[in-house]
Amino acid sequence: MSLVEKIVEQFACPTGFWGNIVGFIMAHRSSNLERNEWAISLLNLQPSDRVLEIGFGPGVTIQKMSEIAIDGVIWGIDRSEVMFRQASKRNQRAISAGRVRLFLTSVSQLPSFDSPFDKILAVNNFYFWDNKTEVLRRLREQLRTGGIIALVHQPRLPGTTEDDVIEAGEKFSRYLEMAGFKDIQVERKRMKPVSTVYVQGRNL
Ligand SMILES: C[S@@+](CC[C@H](N)C(=O)[O-])C[C@H]1O[C@@H](n2cnc3c(N)ncnc32)[C@H](O)[C@@H]1O
Repeated sequence: MSLVEKIVEQFACPTGFWGNIVGFIMAHRSSNLERNEWAISLLNLQPSDRVLEIGFGPGVTIQKMSEIAIDGVIWGIDRSEVMFRQASKRNQRAISAGRVRLFLTSVSQLPSFDSPFDKILAVNNFYFWDNKTEVLRRLREQLRTGGIIALVHQPRLPGTTEDDVIEAGEKFSRYLEMAGFKDIQVERKRMKPVSTVYVQGRNL
């Protein structure tokens, strides 16, 4: 396995010592924070929103969303035990208060939720999912009518170009359409080394 493949593997599911380092990087790297803050701003969170974040990593975005949705609940799922531990520690107080609920599981095995979500967010992990269309269909069933899902992506592989970002936006849009989402919207934010794309669909 090449070095690049090993690094990608850690971002796909952080494990062990290196997983902890990867989690630290994701929680502190400025491009990571900028990308996630932009995603949150486009979601237009309301104080009472019920939100699900998929692939929460170190839990920074969970924490930020819980500070905005002060009367709502933020749920999160991630398949990495190391990320689950980091995110649980970072959000300990909100978890104790019942305002954040985290699960260690894959998006392919959704836990049962008590009521529909207003918003679902996934930042830099959609491309790791298996059976994307089927999983998106199941997620749509977890959204209230009018609820939105946002898939956010900034390609990180060496040699990535703006064309890859545009292509990702088109691909993600097609997946959302195939899963029955409507009113697809695509936004791009200029960033270094390449833009981030935000693709939103609505459950109508
Ligand atoms: C590149 S990290 C991004 C973390 C965070 N969203 C961020 O932007 O900082 C990808 C995360 O998604 C998680 N992940 C990848 N595939 C997943 C899946 N199928 N189900 C649940 N979590 C997944 C990984 O464990 C990892 O924590």
